[in-house]
Amino acid sequence: MHKAYISGTGSCLPERVLTNNELEQMVETSDEWITSRTGIQTRRISGAGEQNYQLAARAAEKALAAAGLEAQELDLVLVATLSPHMIMPSCACFVQAEIGAANAFAFDLNAACSGFLYGLDMAEKYIASRPEMKILVIGSETLSCRVNWEDRNTCILFGDGAGACIVESSSARGIVDSTLHADGNLWNLLYMDSPASRNPDLLDKDRQGCYIQMSGRDVFKYAVRAMEDAVTRLLKRQNLAINDVCLLIPHQANVRILGKLMERLGIEQEKVFINVNKYGNTSAASIPIALDEACQEGRVQQGDLVLLCSFGGGFTWGSMLLYW
Ligand code: ACO
Repeated sequence: MHKAYISGTGSCLPERVLTNNELEQMVETSDEWITSRTGIQTRRISGAGEQNYQLAARAAEKALAAAGLEAQELDLVLVATLSPHMIMPSCACFVQAEIGAANAFAFDLNAACSGFLYGLDMAEKYIASRPEMKILVIGSETLSCRVNWEDRNTCILFGDGAGACIVESSSARGIVDSTLHADGNLWNLLYMDSPASRNPDLLDKDRQGCYIQMSGRDVFKYAVRAMEDAVTRLLKRQNLAINDVCLLIPHQANVRILGKLMERLGIEQEKVFINVNKYGNTSAASIPIALDEACQEGRVQQGDLVLLCSFGGGFTWGSMLLYW
């Protein structure tokens, strides 16, 4: 029986660091408010040469090196993103060209903050039917291009970055199980519009433009409940307990959401990887960036049971268990 396992990880963060003190000069807010409500202290903001696909490509090159693979050996480049620099071609096609993955097909996937988890799940399905495949799964975002820098409710939360992993088959370790969910009825609690329609019959004049719009309190409530439910459901299905998990890598939205989640799951803080304080919410990129940092810091060892979980616009959410 072949399992899909992660053979290499990589990440890339823009150089520019935006601090809470700088945000105080931009909107009516304070370092104290942001830190106490979100735990976020800094986030990274893209600049020249740091388009979404460029961050993604740099993360991909590191993941390839870690896995000991050449780009030409890849069969698929899959990018989870909600902030591509173009609608067409996909970010994945730009990455494919940038890294020289000449033998790979390429496409984007949008499941908002759950995109990376959806992508890993899809990679696992490809590996199940074609174990020889080598798949690059990336979560990459330039959300700084998509927030309204005059809206203090949202602009303090988000950041840019990319994380990547190589997925190959193994008979010993890898993805055990996952559970993915969506509820499109709740779309209007967290969304971002398209550019104005050129078809006047389809133009919605009430739309605000391509900015993230959010009902923060509702998102908070649903995020905690949904991630708890996805994790509990998955552990039960696999006959495992939360104590069996060596490391939980959740989507990095904010520390209060994560605090509530840890409380409800009954997991010790030492078993939860948190870096949202440094990078803010990087949507689809948050889990692969955290996964890469966890590897670099030696927080995951071969054989460890790792749990991933996410929640985002859609709403979309899910969880995944894997043996490292
Ligand atoms: N600085 C200062 N005051 C602010 C700011 C700010 N940046 N933003 C909002 N406020 C004000 C509000 O205007 C409001 O003022 P009012 O009472 O005069 O109207 C007051 O602070 C309280 O606002 P609330 O929205 O009730 O504040 P809350 O305690 O709920 O915190 C927050 C807001 C941090 C957004 C919280 O709801 C939250 O964390 N929600 C989850 C959002 C999230 O993580 N979204 C990411 C995308 S989804 C995901 O990734 C899971």
